[in-house]
Amino acid sequence: MQGVFITIEGVEGSGKSTQLLRLSERLRRLDLPVMVSKEPGGTALGRELRRLLLERHGSGETWCPEAELLLFYADRAQHLEALIRPALAEGKIVLVDRFEDSTRAYQGASGVAESSMDRLNELVLRGLRPHLTLMLDMDPEASLQRVEVRNLALGAEFAETRFDEAELEFHRRVRNRFLAIAQNHPNRVALIPARDPADQVEAAIWQRVAPLLRSSGFGAD
Ligand code: TMP
Repeated sequence: MQGVFITIEGVEGSGKSTQLLRLSERLRRLDLPVMVSKEPGGTALGRELRRLLLERHGSGETWCPEAELLLFYADRAQHLEALIRPALAEGKIVLVDRFEDSTRAYQGASGVAESSMDRLNELVLRGLRPHLTLMLDMDPEASLQRVEVRNLALGAEFAETRFDEAELEFHRRVRNRFLAIAQNHPNRVALIPARDPADQVEAAIWQRVAPLLRSSGFGAD
């Protein structure tokens, strides 16, 4: 049996991780075979790439957009080979926090051409696409506020963290790219309003996931 591949996408603070956890717990309660992972950092080597990509480097140097793109794809290639393809071949329901759409949205917003991403997809994805993408949509102004509150709760070390206007503008571009992806791939992408209370978001997600699982032979109710 072939598995089912579901990704979850959205701007920072849109509640992806919470919802992915809720969904995976629900599937486990139903005794369904689930694998949960994320990008970047789904594999041990990928976690090293995640650190290189997301932690501030001591030198103050930052990645140029093309180097960043290649590192995200190195992480993805390893993730697909080591975890995603084998789990799908074993017939599992594979839930992944961020995938190709994040690259299209974030690296696209940083100025990387779509054609470069098309070429890397050919090399790395080789035609594999999620059966369903849950796209949690939220105004970045509100979602980044959630991130700030979370950072403040983490303690003084992060207390200075505030998103400035340039960052906000970047995240607005990211959101618009996500929205365009949803519009261009209506069969694959479910656009879910993410400002609603978590229980409501969870219900909206389940409305999209349950029929897919049923039609894939998983008998979810
Ligand atoms: P996360 O904490 O939600 O996993 O976010 C990881 C960060 O990496 C987030 O800022 C989005 C970014 N990202 C990209 O820029 N391109 C990508 O392809 C992926 C997977 C993540």
